[in-house]
Amino acid sequence: MVMRTYDGQTVIVFDTTLRDGEQSPGATLTSAEKLEIARQLDQLGVDVIEAGFPAASPDDLAAVQRIAREVGTPAGPVICGLARAVEGDIRACWEGIKEATKPRIHTFLGTSDIHLKYQTGLTREQGLEKVRMAVTLAKSLCNDVEFSPMDAGRTDMQYLLQVLTVAVECGATTLNIPDTVGYVVPQEWQRTIEQLIAETPGAGLGSGVIWSVHCHNDLGLATANTLAGVMGGARQVEVTINGIGERAGNTSLEEVVMSLHTRPQFFNLRTNIVTQEITKTSRMVSNYTSMSVQPNKAIVGQNAFAHEAGIHQDGMLKNASTYEIMTPETVGLSQSRLVLGKHSGRHALKVRLHELGYDISDADLQPIFKRFKDLADSKKTVTDADLEALVNDRFQGLNEVFQLVDIQVTCGTMGLPTATVKVKNTIHDQELVYAAVGSGPVDASYRAIDAIVKAPNRLLEYSVHSVTEGIDAMGEVTVRILSDKGDRSFGGYGADDDIIVASVRAYLGALNRMLIALGHGTTKPEGSVATVGLSKKSE
Ligand code: KIV
Ligand code: ZN
Repeated sequence: MVMRTYDGQTVIVFDTTLRDGEQSPGATLTSAEKLEIARQLDQLGVDVIEAGFPAASPDDLAAVQRIAREVGTPAGPVICGLARAVEGDIRACWEGIKEATKPRIHTFLGTSDIHLKYQTGLTREQGLEKVRMAVTLAKSLCNDVEFSPMDAGRTDMQYLLQVLTVAVECGATTLNIPDTVGYVVPQEWQRTIEQLIAETPGAGLGSGVIWSVHCHNDLGLATANTLAGVMGGARQVEVTINGIGERAGNTSLEEVVMSLHTRPQFFNLRTNIVTQEITKTSRMVSNYTSMSVQPNKAIVGQNAFAHEAGIHQDGMLKNASTYEIMTPETVGLSQSRLVLGKHSGRHALKVRLHELGYDISDADLQPIFKRFKDLADSKKTVTDADLEALVNDRFQGLNEVFQLVDIQVTCGTMGLPTATVKVKNTIHDQELVYAAVGSGPVDASYRAIDAIVKAPNRLLEYSVHSVTEGIDAMGEVTVRILSDKGDRSFGGYGADDDIIVASVRAYLGALNRMLIALGHGTTKPEGSVATVGLSKKSE
């Protein structure tokens, strides 16, 4: 259990991976994945989880309710929901979070002249009235109310002060200042936050009101701006894991937390984050959202602790402090340890997974154990990183319309690359098989799947990397596809020691997400596809 403590030096970490982060194109998460991430965010020690936008859909509401119930325990974090400054949104938000021990309603309204004129069509005066209505209603339902003047970075200072004054009068306990479009620069932002704290009546130092910053990364300045906000007096930072979010993303949790942690003399501030959980959380979010982390990403990129140049390696061998300002262990990156092999049993696997922080039920362990055995057969030793990849891959199976049964490929310099793929339609309990040729084994497999699934799409991204070093390493594949209407993208993740199998699992993962989101996949496939075992129940 994580101990959260608060004093004048604490910066509250508000994680919005499940709300703003999930707004990243293609990052749609299932409710099982959201719950798993929320549990991990709790382990990481975040103070507030923004679990979603309950008014967006009944599914979003149900996911927030589940997180509130299961993660919002007395020892757990505050569970927050987002609501526009609209009565229906605020009431839906309360329905979502009310079962949490510490619920919070976060309501917002665009306050820049651009947002007022083009988005809501309100006058400044009408904007003030909306804020009054929204915060008053939220306060009547929930004691902990956060208000955000959206696009504050481009809002006129005098109007911003008026809006925030109304929010405080109506009972807002946290004032979050968003740079919604990633427009501001650090020195300017620090001065803005200082001025707002000094000039908003009833919200100055010692008033109990928490000031917060929420910065987007359009100019690559989100972390710098967030830290500048903290220098200006903000004591809550709104962040996401791996910096995912709208457009160029949000401020990355790991960058802000490790800046505060690595430079205590400069900031003299602390957080409740268990930094050793950072790498695991980053991998989980990357795998579930199918958004790979760029190799040179600070803190969590694959190269963040890699030293290539001879002079750097020489320095590292003499003393790691020559080229490392923090140790990999501080962020939970340990050298992959050799853990299990083909003689290890179910119990050993369960214990090791528990040590790695995964509490897997016996029912969920069964398919992981089977895949672990297959992996241990082909690979002498199974490392912690291999196990994490297998665990992260397991959600692919929960919402599958189409499931991979078997695949065989032939490729090389002689003949045409050919793939024969057998896939099960779980809705019709039907196995379908198709063979196709392509420019390579992955292309051939994807063509065979396309012929079976018949869900037109465009492959936007395909990336593969090895989980560990060595020729027998497991491969992780992430793909992103665009629906044929071109308006939505969907990601998929697959891990296997055979990269063609990992590629197929990733592609099917993305297709399944697309089919479920667009409500397809329920019509019985027919036509040129050869079907095997039609209507036969699988054993
Ligand atoms: O970027 C933004 O302004 C937001 C608000 C809803 C806080 O995400
Ligand atoms: Zn945002």
